[in-house]
Amino acid sequence: MSTLQGKTALVTGASRGIGRAIALRLARDGANIAGLDIKDDLLEETGALVREQGVEFLPITADVTDFDNMKAAVGQFTEAFDSLDIMVNNAGITRDNLLIRMSDEDWRAVISVNLTGVFNGIKAVARPMMRQRSGRIVNIASVVGMVGNAGQANYSASKGGVIALTKTAARELAGRGINVNAVAPGFIRTAMTDELSEEARESALGQIPFARFGEAQDVAAAVAFLAGPDSSYLTGQVIRVDGGMVM
Ligand SMILES: NC(=O)c1ccc[n+]([C@@H]2O[C@H](COP(=O)([O-])OP(=O)(O)OC[C@H]3O[C@@H](n4cnc5c(N)ncnc54)[C@H](O)[C@@H]3O)[C@@H](O)[C@H]2O)c1
Repeated sequence: MSTLQGKTALVTGASRGIGRAIALRLARDGANIAGLDIKDDLLEETGALVREQGVEFLPITADVTDFDNMKAAVGQFTEAFDSLDIMVNNAGITRDNLLIRMSDEDWRAVISVNLTGVFNGIKAVARPMMRQRSGRIVNIASVVGMVGNAGQANYSASKGGVIALTKTAARELAGRGINVNAVAPGFIRTAMTDELSEEARESALGQIPFARFGEAQDVAAAVAFLAGPDSSYLTGQVIRVDGGMVM
Protein backbone atom coordinates (compact mmCIF):
# COMPACT_ATOMS: atom_id res chain seq x y z
CA MET A 1 0.00 0.00 0.00
CA SER A 2 1.52 3.30 -1.05
CA THR A 3 0.16 5.55 1.68
CA LEU A 4 2.80 8.22 1.04
CA GLN A 5 2.59 8.29 -2.76
CA GLY A 6 3.72 11.70 -4.04
CA LYS A 7 4.91 12.86 -0.61
CA THR A 8 8.46 13.94 0.22
CA ALA A 9 10.52 13.28 3.33
CA LEU A 10 13.76 14.58 4.81
CA VAL A 11 15.44 12.08 7.16
CA THR A 12 18.49 13.05 9.24
CA GLY A 13 21.11 10.47 10.20
CA ALA A 14 20.06 8.44 7.15
CA SER A 15 23.44 6.80 6.43
CA ARG A 16 22.80 3.75 8.58
CA GLY A 17 20.86 2.17 11.43
CA ILE A 18 17.41 3.47 12.31
CA GLY A 19 17.68 6.47 9.94
CA ARG A 20 18.34 4.17 6.98
CA ALA A 21 15.43 1.91 7.97
CA ILE A 22 13.14 4.97 8.21
CA ALA A 23 14.24 6.21 4.78
CA LEU A 24 13.59 2.76 3.29
CA ARG A 25 10.21 2.38 4.93
CA LEU A 26 8.97 5.82 3.85
CA ALA A 27 10.28 5.05 0.34
CA ARG A 28 8.43 1.72 0.35
CA ASP A 29 5.30 3.66 1.27
CA GLY A 30 5.84 5.83 -1.82
CA ALA A 31 7.63 8.97 -0.57
CA ASN A 32 10.56 10.62 -2.35
CA ILE A 33 13.44 10.84 0.13
CA ALA A 34 16.26 13.20 0.99
CA GLY A 35 18.75 11.47 3.27
CA LEU A 36 20.90 13.81 5.34
CA ASP A 37 24.01 12.81 7.26
CA ILE A 38 27.25 14.32 8.48
CA LYS A 39 29.09 11.30 7.01
CA ASP A 40 28.44 10.81 3.32
CA ASP A 41 30.34 7.53 2.77
CA LEU A 42 27.30 5.32 3.49
CA LEU A 43 24.65 7.73 2.26
CA GLU A 44 24.85 6.41 -1.30
CA GLU A 45 24.24 2.86 0.00
CA THR A 46 21.00 4.14 1.56
CA GLY A 47 20.30 5.97 -1.71
CA ALA A 48 20.66 2.81 -3.82
CA LEU A 49 18.25 0.91 -1.53
CA VAL A 50 15.76 3.80 -1.56
CA ARG A 51 15.85 4.07 -5.37
CA GLU A 52 15.14 0.32 -5.62
CA GLN A 53 11.69 1.22 -4.22
CA GLY A 54 11.04 3.28 -7.37
CA VAL A 55 11.25 6.70 -5.73
CA GLU A 56 13.76 9.56 -5.89
CA PHE A 57 16.66 9.96 -3.47
CA LEU A 58 18.56 13.18 -2.77
CA PRO A 59 21.73 12.83 -0.66
CA ILE A 60 22.52 15.84 1.55
CA THR A 61 25.72 16.15 3.57
CA ALA A 62 25.09 18.42 6.55
CA ASP A 63 25.67 18.74 10.28
CA VAL A 64 22.46 18.99 12.31
CA THR A 65 24.26 21.00 15.01
CA ASP A 66 24.72 23.90 12.58
CA PHE A 67 21.54 25.84 11.79
CA ASP A 68 22.98 27.44 8.64
CA ASN A 69 23.84 23.95 7.37
CA MET A 70 20.27 22.81 8.03
CA LYS A 71 18.79 25.89 6.37
CA ALA A 72 20.95 25.23 3.30
CA ALA A 73 19.89 21.56 3.37
CA VAL A 74 16.22 22.54 3.34
CA GLY A 75 17.02 24.93 0.47
CA GLN A 76 18.51 21.99 -1.49
CA PHE A 77 15.43 19.94 -0.65
CA THR A 78 12.90 22.53 -1.80
CA GLU A 79 14.86 23.05 -5.04
CA ALA A 80 14.66 19.32 -5.79
CA PHE A 81 11.10 18.64 -4.63
CA ASP A 82 7.82 20.58 -4.92
CA SER A 83 6.78 20.22 -1.28
CA LEU A 84 8.28 19.32 2.11
CA ASP A 85 5.78 16.96 3.68
CA ILE A 86 7.72 14.96 6.28
CA MET A 87 10.74 15.76 8.46
CA VAL A 88 12.29 13.01 10.58
CA ASN A 89 14.84 14.25 13.11
CA ASN A 90 16.72 11.02 13.76
CA ALA A 91 20.46 11.87 13.93
CA GLY A 92 21.85 11.11 17.37
CA ILE A 93 25.00 10.09 19.23
CA THR A 94 26.00 8.64 22.61
CA ARG A 95 29.01 9.45 24.78
CA ASP A 96 28.26 7.42 27.91
CA ASN A 97 29.91 7.84 31.30
CA LEU A 98 28.93 8.16 34.91
CA LEU A 99 27.83 11.69 35.72
CA ILE A 100 30.78 12.46 38.01
CA ARG A 101 33.22 11.36 35.29
CA MET A 102 31.42 12.95 32.35
CA SER A 103 33.53 15.59 30.62
CA ASP A 104 32.13 18.94 29.66
CA GLU A 105 32.97 18.06 26.05
CA ASP A 106 30.92 14.83 26.13
CA TRP A 107 27.99 16.63 27.75
CA ARG A 108 27.99 19.37 25.12
CA ALA A 109 28.54 17.04 22.15
CA VAL A 110 25.49 14.92 22.95
CA ILE A 111 23.21 17.86 23.79
CA SER A 112 24.38 19.59 20.64
CA VAL A 113 23.58 16.72 18.22
CA ASN A 114 20.57 15.15 19.96
CA LEU A 115 18.73 18.23 21.24
CA THR A 116 20.02 21.32 19.41
CA GLY A 117 20.06 19.21 16.23
CA VAL A 118 16.32 18.52 16.57
CA PHE A 119 15.65 22.20 17.33
CA ASN A 120 17.60 23.19 14.19
CA GLY A 121 15.74 20.60 12.12
CA ILE A 122 12.32 21.77 13.28
CA LYS A 123 13.22 25.44 12.83
CA ALA A 124 14.61 24.84 9.33
CA VAL A 125 11.46 23.11 8.05
CA ALA A 126 8.90 25.17 10.01
CA ARG A 127 8.65 28.07 7.52
CA PRO A 128 8.18 26.01 4.35
CA MET A 129 5.69 23.76 6.15
CA MET A 130 3.84 26.78 7.59
CA ARG A 131 3.62 28.30 4.11
CA GLN A 132 2.11 25.11 2.69
CA ARG A 133 -0.10 24.78 5.80
CA SER A 134 0.71 21.12 6.26
CA GLY A 135 3.55 18.92 7.44
CA ARG A 136 4.56 16.03 9.64
CA ILE A 137 7.53 16.25 11.96
CA VAL A 138 8.68 13.10 13.75
CA ASN A 139 11.49 13.30 16.30
CA ILE A 140 13.39 10.25 17.49
CA ALA A 141 13.67 10.37 21.29
CA SER A 142 14.36 7.39 23.58
CA VAL A 143 12.66 5.77 26.56
CA VAL A 144 15.66 6.85 28.67
CA GLY A 145 14.43 10.41 28.12
CA MET A 146 11.43 9.37 30.20
CA VAL A 147 12.94 7.17 32.91
CA GLY A 148 16.66 8.08 32.94
CA ASN A 149 19.58 5.65 32.70
CA ALA A 150 22.72 5.40 34.82
CA GLY A 151 25.72 6.31 32.66
CA GLN A 152 23.70 8.42 30.24
CA ALA A 153 23.22 11.82 31.93
CA ASN A 154 23.90 13.67 28.67
CA TYR A 155 21.90 11.30 26.45
CA SER A 156 18.86 10.97 28.73
CA ALA A 157 18.74 14.76 29.28
CA SER A 158 18.93 15.33 25.51
CA LYS A 159 16.13 12.85 24.83
CA GLY A 160 13.95 14.21 27.65
CA GLY A 161 14.53 17.59 26.02
CA VAL A 162 13.42 16.21 22.64
CA ILE A 163 10.15 15.05 24.21
CA ALA A 164 9.46 18.49 25.74
CA LEU A 165 10.50 20.21 22.51
CA THR A 166 8.14 17.95 20.54
CA LYS A 167 5.21 19.00 22.72
CA THR A 168 6.05 22.71 22.49
CA ALA A 169 6.49 22.57 18.71
CA ALA A 170 3.22 20.62 18.46
CA ARG A 171 1.41 23.42 20.30
CA GLU A 172 3.05 26.19 18.25
CA LEU A 173 2.59 24.60 14.83
CA ALA A 174 -0.84 22.94 15.15
CA GLY A 175 -2.58 26.09 13.90
CA ARG A 176 -0.71 25.73 10.59
CA GLY A 177 -1.71 22.11 10.07
CA ILE A 178 1.64 20.66 11.18
CA ASN A 179 1.70 17.55 13.41
CA VAL A 180 4.76 17.09 15.63
CA ASN A 181 5.22 13.76 17.38
CA ALA A 182 8.02 11.62 18.76
CA VAL A 183 8.99 7.97 18.72
CA ALA A 184 10.84 6.71 21.80
CA PRO A 185 12.70 3.48 21.04
CA GLY A 186 13.94 1.17 23.77
CA PHE A 187 16.88 -1.10 22.86
CA ILE A 188 17.12 -1.49 19.10
CA ARG A 189 19.74 -3.67 17.39
CA THR A 190 22.07 -1.19 15.62
CA ALA A 191 25.74 -0.18 15.64
CA MET A 192 24.88 2.01 18.64
CA THR A 193 23.74 -0.96 20.77
CA ASP A 194 26.34 -3.37 19.32
CA GLU A 195 28.85 -1.38 21.37
CA LEU A 196 27.20 -2.47 24.66
CA SER A 197 29.11 -4.85 26.94
CA GLU A 198 27.74 -8.38 27.43
CA GLU A 199 26.81 -7.41 30.99
CA ALA A 200 24.87 -4.30 29.87
CA ARG A 201 23.14 -6.36 27.18
CA GLU A 202 22.01 -9.04 29.68
CA SER A 203 20.78 -6.43 32.13
CA ALA A 204 18.84 -4.66 29.34
CA LEU A 205 17.17 -7.89 28.19
CA GLY A 206 16.04 -8.49 31.78
CA GLN A 207 14.02 -5.26 31.67
CA ILE A 208 12.22 -6.04 28.41
CA PRO A 209 8.97 -8.06 28.69
CA PHE A 210 9.50 -9.40 25.14
CA ALA A 211 13.06 -10.41 26.22
CA ARG A 212 14.58 -9.35 22.89
CA PHE A 213 15.93 -6.18 21.33
CA GLY A 214 13.85 -4.42 18.72
CA GLU A 215 14.79 -3.98 15.07
CA ALA A 216 15.27 -0.69 13.24
CA GLN A 217 12.22 -1.62 11.15
CA ASP A 218 10.04 -1.60 14.28
CA VAL A 219 10.93 2.07 14.84
CA ALA A 220 10.49 2.84 11.13
CA ALA A 221 6.95 1.40 11.22
CA ALA A 222 5.95 3.80 14.03
CA VAL A 223 7.50 6.71 12.10
CA ALA A 224 5.58 5.68 8.96
CA PHE A 225 2.35 5.71 10.96
CA LEU A 226 3.07 9.21 12.35
CA ALA A 227 4.05 10.44 8.87
CA GLY A 228 1.01 8.92 7.19
CA PRO A 229 -2.69 9.67 6.72
CA ASP A 230 -3.93 7.55 9.65
CA SER A 231 -2.43 9.81 12.33
CA SER A 232 -3.84 13.16 11.23
CA TYR A 233 -5.47 13.81 14.65
CA LEU A 234 -2.30 13.02 16.66
CA THR A 235 0.09 15.72 17.80
CA GLY A 236 2.48 16.15 20.74
CA GLN A 237 2.48 12.39 21.33
CA VAL A 238 5.28 9.99 22.14
CA ILE A 239 5.02 6.43 20.85
CA ARG A 240 7.26 4.00 22.73
CA VAL A 241 8.72 1.19 20.65
CA ASP A 242 10.43 -0.79 23.38
CA GLY A 243 9.02 -4.31 23.76
CA GLY A 244 7.09 -3.15 26.82
CA MET A 245 10.17 -1.90 28.72
CA VAL A 246 8.54 1.35 29.87
CA MET A 247 4.80 1.32 30.48
N1 LIG B 1 19.80 2.03 18.74
C1 LIG B 1 19.04 2.17 19.81
O1 LIG B 1 18.85 1.25 20.62
C2 LIG B 1 18.31 3.46 20.06
C3 LIG B 1 17.45 3.54 21.15
C4 LIG B 1 16.76 4.72 21.40
C5 LIG B 1 16.94 5.79 20.55
N2 LIG B 1 17.80 5.70 19.49
C6 LIG B 1 17.95 6.89 18.67
O2 LIG B 1 17.74 6.58 17.31
C7 LIG B 1 18.50 7.46 16.49
C8 LIG B 1 19.32 6.64 15.50
O3 LIG B 1 20.16 5.76 16.24
P1 LIG B 1 21.00 4.58 15.57
O4 LIG B 1 21.05 3.49 16.58
O5 LIG B 1 20.52 4.30 14.21
O6 LIG B 1 22.46 5.27 15.53
P2 LIG B 1 23.62 5.19 14.44
O7 LIG B 1 24.85 5.66 15.15
O8 LIG B 1 23.63 3.86 13.76
O9 LIG B 1 23.15 6.29 13.36
C9 LIG B 1 23.14 7.67 13.66
C10 LIG B 1 23.40 8.43 12.37
O10 LIG B 1 23.39 9.84 12.70
C11 LIG B 1 24.46 10.46 12.02
N3 LIG B 1 24.90 11.68 12.71
C12 LIG B 1 25.59 11.76 13.88
N4 LIG B 1 25.84 13.05 14.15
C13 LIG B 1 25.32 13.80 13.15
C14 LIG B 1 25.29 15.18 12.88
N5 LIG B 1 25.88 16.08 13.70
N6 LIG B 1 24.65 15.62 11.76
C15 LIG B 1 24.08 14.73 10.90
N7 LIG B 1 24.10 13.40 11.11
C16 LIG B 1 24.71 12.94 12.22
C17 LIG B 1 25.57 9.41 12.01
O11 LIG B 1 26.57 9.68 11.03
C18 LIG B 1 24.78 8.13 11.76
O12 LIG B 1 24.65 7.85 10.39
C19 LIG B 1 19.33 8.31 17.44
O13 LIG B 1 18.67 9.54 17.68
C20 LIG B 1 19.35 7.48 18.70
O14 LIG B 1 19.57 8.25 19.84
C21 LIG B 1 18.50 4.57 19.23
